[in-house]
Order: sequence, then structure tokens, then C-alpha cells
Amino acid sequence: MEQGHTYRDSQAPIVERIRDLLDRMTLAEKIGQMTQVENLSITPNEVAQHAIGSVLSGGGGNPEPNTPETWAAMVRGYQEAALETRLGIPLLYGADAVHGHNNVRGAVVFPHNIGLGAARDTLLAKRIGQITAVEALATGIHWVFAPAVSVPQDIRWGRTYEGFSEDTDLVTQLGVAQLQGLQNADGATNLGHPRTVLGSVKHYVGDGGTTWGSNTTNDWVIDQGVTEVDEEVLRAVHLPPFVAAIEAGARNIMVSLSSWGSLRMHAHRYLLTEVLKGELGFAGFLVSDWQAVDYIDPDYYAGVVTSINAGVDMVMVPYDGLRFMNNLTRAVENGDVPLARIEDAVRRILAVKFELGLFEQPFGDDSLLPLIGQQAHRDVAREAVRKSLVLLKNDGDTLPLSSDIPRIFVAGQAADDVGLQCGGWTIAWQGGSGDITPGTTVLAGIRAAVSENTVVHYDPDGNFDSADALGAEEVADVGIVVLSEEPYAEGVGDRADLNLAEADAALLARVRPRCRKLVVVLFSGRPLIVTEHLSQWDAFVAAWLPGTEGDGVAQVLFGEYLFAGKLPYSWPRSMEQIPRKQGGDPLFPLGFGLS
Ligand code: BGC
Ligand code: BGC
Repeated sequence: MEQGHTYRDSQAPIVERIRDLLDRMTLAEKIGQMTQVENLSITPNEVAQHAIGSVLSGGGGNPEPNTPETWAAMVRGYQEAALETRLGIPLLYGADAVHGHNNVRGAVVFPHNIGLGAARDTLLAKRIGQITAVEALATGIHWVFAPAVSVPQDIRWGRTYEGFSEDTDLVTQLGVAQLQGLQNADGATNLGHPRTVLGSVKHYVGDGGTTWGSNTTNDWVIDQGVTEVDEEVLRAVHLPPFVAAIEAGARNIMVSLSSWGSLRMHAHRYLLTEVLKGELGFAGFLVSDWQAVDYIDPDYYAGVVTSINAGVDMVMVPYDGLRFMNNLTRAVENGDVPLARIEDAVRRILAVKFELGLFEQPFGDDSLLPLIGQQAHRDVAREAVRKSLVLLKNDGDTLPLSSDIPRIFVAGQAADDVGLQCGGWTIAWQGGSGDITPGTTVLAGIRAAVSENTVVHYDPDGNFDSADALGAEEVADVGIVVLSEEPYAEGVGDRADLNLAEADAALLARVRPRCRKLVVVLFSGRPLIVTEHLSQWDAFVAAWLPGTEGDGVAQVLFGEYLFAGKLPYSWPRSMEQIPRKQGGDPLFPLGFGLS
């Protein structure tokens, strides 16, 4: 590694450092900076050998065993390799920490954004960003692929829960707050702060506006589809969060896998270069989404040329980094991609690496490791859970429940399952069920909330006949049924039918006759169609995907805290009311919530 050069001088202005460094770089080193490979497809040695600029962990890109310490060691291994290269340019390691540092077993997992859209608390969203930054830095990670500022217009979309709301203004406020938390800044960029990570505002632009059935890439349906709106609507509905994020110091934006009209976003020179970098003055760098460049053209070379010329600065390859680098090298040699475009991309990437202080402090902060999943972080998550709950029905003041009710029946696997309450993007890309990571469940919270005189019977399937000392006809004072969607992420969660599952209806039918009052709590990544069931329920709570601190739900059920959440999406009466623009009177409007 070379010493004594301007680019190594932390006192020199960043423009000078970039100029000095760029002058020393070969074409291969420049292209290496533009390349991002997933950890599961590259070793530290290969990172050094090809002077790769970035490594990511996508959903489930975890070390084995999955602990905070193994994460820190893994990321350190890549960084050490990068520092051994000729110029020693530090690596920028990125991860999908979209509701906390959610890949890491033991990290705190916050409610998915839909829950924060219900809580509508920008200070809280900011604190969540700050905590996520600390937990990421503890593992050496300086770049987090959040916030998603999607404005979902069709709740059949499997990524609805990643969006704060269907309402553009709400998305803008909360997206900016989360970004500022991650970047630890108020208004201005402050990437040099020691507790800061780089955010990635995603996905640019119109990812939430795609049309059902318009995906032509894979067997998903609406995810990665086509946004069929005119420019006026695109600018009014989907663009504002990006405008605000840039003003708030966004230095990285992820391009959407969707298309606008006939053109894929990764090929959209007008929207990437003219609008974003030109008109909106975005001076940071654009990262592609997962494999997106592969889809632009059946001819990979042509896809690389088109996307780089359109304005993509770094490519999330994510598997075969060499193939990408070889094709881009050939494109420059052939004059299909101007060297000036390459240098512009590299300047943007290096600027952020300098701003983050990576040349001075390329590693994370091991002293933060004990803070991963610590109680203080979980307390903030629990606060977010409480504030995210939306009370949709409460006949006869069923809620709050008194803590000395003699007998409570609790049913539903989701009442006692951390995986189900976390949803997708938790430990694995698609999430999972069971004890996938430490946390508390609603059942645990109920047991903690009730008095000594209360008997709590739990049966996941709602079979209470054999409950201790109970005759088959005996009823409980209160039944609490916790329902959930199966976890999913991205297009895997695209669903044509959002009616409550048959099995859930059957569970409800078993429990209803066994309790005087029935309280239904729903974990879901979006509103589900419950209209025909609702008359059977005394109280109904939308709890979204609360994350690891499930006992926060019980705290509100038992009145330790008040219900305060408001619907971030309108709640349709029937499938005919989806997508929203088809209108009609929803079951509950956007902003609804009893208190
Ligand atoms: C998703 C992004 C994510 C990336 C990295 C993509 O498939 O669309 O939201 O950040 O993968 O895992
Ligand atoms: C990765 C995700 C990524 C997805 C895209 C998965 O294998 O883990 O991060 O978003 O593929 O298809």
C-alpha cells in the first residue's frame, strides 16, 4: 500500500484527494470500484485480487454460525483484504438492515416500515435509524440499504410492508427521518460522524406504482413490474420522497427493478441522469438493484453499456463479478462507454468513501458489539410496537383488558412465534417461523401483564377442551386470537387474494363459542380482507409486523399504554377495492384508528 500521497491526507480537501487517487488508478481498479458482489459469491482473496469496491450481504447473506461476532469477523476479513491492494482503497460493505440489523441473530428487530407509518412518529423513526446504525457499525458495516421510500398503491404487492404508507407525504416525512437517523444528521450530510452509516434511499422510482400482472422478468406478478402512470403522476406520487431525501443529505440511491413505461429504470437515462443527477442535483452515487443489469437486454454486454451510460454508478452484480468487470472493460475499450462516465461514477463512489472517513477508519467499532440487541435498543423497539398498533374495532369497550380477568384463552401460532411476528427480511431473506432470533411474544406479554388470579390457557389451534380443570362447555371471559400472514419478501409475497385464510377462519370458528369476548390481533404486511368476519369480533387490532418485541402488543391490550396508531393504508372492504384507485368506500379509511 502506498503512503504519503494526497489521497491519504485526511486534512486535504476531498476533491483534492479524489483527484489524486483517480490519477493513480488503472482502468481495472476504476471498474473494481464500480463492482459490488455478494459475500456468498466472493472470498476476501478475490476481493483483493480484483480490487473490488463493495461487498454486500443480501437477505440471508449471513456467516455461519450467525452471531454478532462472526459478522464482525467476516466483514473485517473483507476489509483487511481490500486494504492490502495496491492503493488500499477501503471497501464499502452494505447490508439489508431494513428493520434493524435484521440478518444478525440477536440484533433488535423493529416493526417493518408499515408499522412506523401507523405510529407516525418521526423522532421515533430517527431513533430507530440511529440504533440500526450502531448495530451495523458494531459488525463493521457502513452502509445500510434503507430507507425504502416506496409509495405502494396496490396492497397485493409483496413489498407493501416495506413502504411506510400509501400516502406520499407520510412516506416523505418518515423516510427522511429514518435516513437522518442512519446518517445521524439534521439536514446536512454528516457522514463523518463516528456513529453514522450511509443510507440507501430506494427504489428509484415508482416501485410502489407497478401494475398487477406487469412483471415480465420472473414468475412474480406485480413486484418488478411496470409503473404505468404519466410523468405528472410519477412526479407527484413517487418522486417527492427522493427530492426530500436529497435535501436531507442522501448520498446513495438504489435504482428500482421496475420499469417506467416501456423502459426499465436501470436503462432510464432521462430519470437517472437528467432528472436525478441533473435537475435534482443528486451528487452521490447510484447503486443498481440485485441482478438488475442482467435483465436490461438479452445480450449482457449491451445491458452493461446501457445501464452505465444511463447513470448507474455501482452495479450489485451480485454473483459473477468478473463477468461484469470484463464486459465493462470491453465496453470502455470499444468506446461504447466513455471513460469520462467511468470516472464520474468512481468520483461519486470515492467521494462517499472519503466522507464516511473510511480511509481513516475502515473498520467498524468492536466496542459496540455488546450493544447489539441490548435492552435499551429493545425498549425503543417495544415503544415502536406499542405506537404502531391500530385499534380498528372495540365494541363495548372490550379493550383495554383488565389484568385480573379470571380466565383467558389465547390461540393462534402467531401468539407465540417470534419469526411470524418479524415477517420477511429477518435472519433469512424470506423470514421464517419459530425461534429464529431472540425476542418476546404476545403470549409472553400476556402472561406478564395478568394478575396472579388469572388463568391463561394457550393452544395454537384453539382446542381448549382439554384445558386444565375445564369442562368442554366452559367458556373463557376473553379469547385472544393472534393471526398472521406467512412471512414473505419481495415478489414472493405478491398475492391475488388477500382474504383471510381458510385455516384462520376455522380457528376463529373454534374459539368464538369458547369465549365471551373475542379480541383478534392480526400480524400482516398489509390490510387483509376481514369484512365478513368482523361482526364476530368484539375488538380488532392491526399489529403489522412488529419485530422482536412482541410483548409490546400485550402492554397495550392490557391498558398499560393507550392505542395511538392510525392506518397508514386504507383498509379495503373487498378485493374489488384493490388497487386503491378503483375507489369505493373502504372498510376503514387511511388515518383511521380508535383511541
Ligand atoms: C431488493 C433490495 C435489496 C437488495 C439487496 C434486492 O432484490 O430489491 O431492496 O436491498 O436486493 O439484497
Ligand atoms: C437475496 C436477496 C435478494 C433476492 C433477490 C436473494 O437470494 O438474498 O437479498 O434481494 O435474492 O432475488
